[in-house]
Amino acid sequence: TAPIGILAALHDEIADLLTRMGPSAERHTIGMRDYYVGKLSGRPCVLVLARVGKVAAAATAVTLIREFGVSCVLFAGLAGGIAPGVRVGDVVLAETLVQHDLDARPLFPRFEVPLLGRAKFATDAGLNEVLARCVADFLALDLPRQVDAATQERFGIAAPALHRGEIASGDQFIGAAEVSRRLAADLPATLCVEMEGAAVAQVCHEYGVPCAVLRTVSDRADAAAPVDFKAFLHEVASFYSAGIIGRFIAA
Ligand code: ADE
Repeated sequence: TAPIGILAALHDEIADLLTRMGPSAERHTIGMRDYYVGKLSGRPCVLVLARVGKVAAAATAVTLIREFGVSCVLFAGLAGGIAPGVRVGDVVLAETLVQHDLDARPLFPRFEVPLLGRAKFATDAGLNEVLARCVADFLALDLPRQVDAATQERFGIAAPALHRGEIASGDQFIGAAEVSRRLAADLPATLCVEMEGAAVAQVCHEYGVPCAVLRTVSDRADAAAPVDFKAFLHEVASFYSAGIIGRFIAA
């Protein structure tokens, strides 16, 4: 059976799943990235750390598809909340993704990928249904056990929610409320912002491979974002992606 491709941008997240793969995982180094081929819960998987940004994510997605023949691509990582109800500690599952920094006007409409005739790329409905159940179970059952009450209180993640809808990606860390507001005005459906998802979704569209993008909200894409992002990354991020993807693979 074809393996599941799992991408993350941050080392912490991949490390936890990698440990679960055990010492039998095989490492393949391609284009300065390490791809770990092995099994998680008895299912063949390829795990890779893509690094940050759309180019890195696109190159990694192509390699997963062409070199490893993955059956689907899952991306897990952090994001900045844009829509009002999207709070730190919440999870966002992308239904569609758009590149907020793509602008080839006047040759093509704003946000449209030139010569591909579209701005938005959909994720796979079947994967999303399974992942949504995994997220709900994770938030209700695992998270309260893994993150102590004081840490939850400090990050304000007492009752984290799942949101499904649009994610905007671009090669920019958004750390100013003014920039967030402009993004929300230009792309009103945006739930959260990150730096890779739409690139992965475009590549998967081009190859006809199902994909899913799962994001934990680490900050509100405002002036506090750099500090919030780092704290969340170091203290809680790994629980989310390893917990949710672990459940998905065991499902
Ligand atoms: N990933 C997590 N927080 C982000 C932000 N504020 N901007 C872009 N990517 C992010």
